[in-house]
Amino acid sequence: MKVTIKTPEEIEKMRIAGRLAAEVLEMIEPFIEVGISTGELDKICHEYIVNTQDAIPAPLNYKGFPKSICTSVNQVICHGIPSDKKILKNGDIINVDITVIKDGYHGDTSKMFFVGKPTTAAERLTKITQECLYKGIELVRPGARLGDIGYTIQKYAEANYYSVVREYCGHGIGAVFHEEPQVMHYGSKDTGLTLKEGMTFTIEPMINQGKRHCKLLPDEWTVVTKDRKLSAQWEHTILVTAGGYEVLTMRKEEQPHFS
Ligand code: MF3
Ligand code: CO
Ligand code: CO
Repeated sequence: MKVTIKTPEEIEKMRIAGRLAAEVLEMIEPFIEVGISTGELDKICHEYIVNTQDAIPAPLNYKGFPKSICTSVNQVICHGIPSDKKILKNGDIINVDITVIKDGYHGDTSKMFFVGKPTTAAERLTKITQECLYKGIELVRPGARLGDIGYTIQKYAEANYYSVVREYCGHGIGAVFHEEPQVMHYGSKDTGLTLKEGMTFTIEPMINQGKRHCKLLPDEWTVVTKDRKLSAQWEHTILVTAGGYEVLTMRKEEQPHFS
């Protein structure tokens, strides 16, 4: 498959799916407190997506994934499986990753939440990782190249003594959850795909406090840092516009940043 250029009609559907995914993150925030389980967070999101949004939680049964959202706590890099046995405790950091399908199109976004009071180290990792995402997004425009985005993210993460996960990356998205291109969060300037108006893809850097290496747990989904240090991730679905970019999954709290 080639990199798809979305039609105006498809873009309108992507805007709707993106907004719904962002709204799930806004909805779940007050529930993320000491004592709740990630299984409970999954149930609340599932019921909201299905019954309030009349949408489909894309992860459920995707390649056999058993739940409707991903919840990745502390040393979990990505694809954490919600569980009633995983109770959040004070100082945890958690990534909640939401993908919804509405009218055949996907919106994919994630953010970090603090449970109770974070450590200074966790707070710093979380902030730098969000800045990695924003620096990547701000480069998006027709004519820009994917290597420039990866380079910028890697450079900023490493300047802050963090490392970039290489085994997982952003992706084209539309009627298909994961399509071309692959969007690496590391790389070299002036390399890779040249962006064109109408492309839609995610940027979703996973940044580790320690070394970049990961390990897949026996459940065949949960990805953890090999050194068991913290990892953070933020994700948006982006449209390449004539003038630059549109963040299809922007939350209300981010409007000041992007205006
Ligand atoms: N939402 C993830 C991403 O950003 C993918 C999750 S796939 C699942 O691409 F199967 F783990 F849910
Ligand atoms: Co994604
Ligand atoms: Co995602």
